[in-house]
Amino acid sequence: MKVFICGFGTVGQGFCEVIARRRQFIRDRYGEDVVIVGAMDSRSYAYDPNGFDPERLVERKISDKRVGDREYTDSVQVLEGIDYDILVEVSPTDVKTGGVGLKNIICALENKKDVITVNKGPLALRFSELTDLAKRNGCLLRFEGSVGGAMPIINLCRENLVGENICSLRGIFNGTCNFILSKMDKGQPFEQALKEAQQMGYAETDPTNDIEGYDSACKIAILANTVFGRDVTFNDVRITGITSITEDAVALAASRNMVIRLIGEVSETKLEVGPRLVPKGHPLSISGTLNTAQILSDLAGPITVTGRGAGRLETASAILSDLVSIMDERVKPQ
Ligand code: HSE
Repeated sequence: MKVFICGFGTVGQGFCEVIARRRQFIRDRYGEDVVIVGAMDSRSYAYDPNGFDPERLVERKISDKRVGDREYTDSVQVLEGIDYDILVEVSPTDVKTGGVGLKNIICALENKKDVITVNKGPLALRFSELTDLAKRNGCLLRFEGSVGGAMPIINLCRENLVGENICSLRGIFNGTCNFILSKMDKGQPFEQALKEAQQMGYAETDPTNDIEGYDSACKIAILANTVFGRDVTFNDVRITGITSITEDAVALAASRNMVIRLIGEVSETKLEVGPRLVPKGHPLSISGTLNTAQILSDLAGPITVTGRGAGRLETASAILSDLVSIMDERVKPQ
């Protein structure tokens, strides 16, 4: 399988490392390699039909601050001119327009390529259009890592819980906000906690997307479409962020044995993100950068999953699971 990576930043580099670390697993399972035929960052790209050593690509990006020696102005033009089977689209999220990621995904699907993405913008804005396009062209579109990073939630609901009637899903889908609110529990001011979250590389390129609840809202829209079969966009979500949460409010909650957490909720009728009071000790009262989701279904009852919602290797692990699912269909395990 020939893979091309668009938006080659930390997650793309993590994916290369994962491919290198799982080389033998892939060989044993399919009798062939995953060949990384190239990658593109915001200004350059590398392409070789024979493939690159994935670790070399990472080294080059780190040392030269660019992945390739070829410059480009239009990513679609590059994608139209190269040969690959699967596009891994990991460009930064643009919640207003879908950004370059949307164009790349449409281009790949129009050219009958399978796509794996963790880019929330395109999915939260144009979900039905993209899934229809994939279906029409016989392509697979996978996006496990777009919600909750390494925390399995989409495939858990769609595969393991297939046949269940899922009544509701609620959880913490933004590590930056949860980190800030947990720090505020300990008396740290908002701004200082945000700065720390940015230094850890957790926050979005524009942290407004985190603290105003837009990042969580994208994930809630994606879950509404995939788990509840709704046809919604990011703009349909009722959103309140955490910027108006004061130190006094956090202290008042604590005096009542509660914490404030940014909770996303989705069901057949609900589509909301906002700060909520959560009793201490409740599964949704977790601290730090973790994500967590509570699924309520009719036969299985409540199920809670918790995991790392972002990170280089963590998000790449979700891409690997999508890759395996595509290869199981296209190549078949041996
Ligand atoms: N900025 C996001 C977060 C990263 O803080 O959870 C993953 O979407």
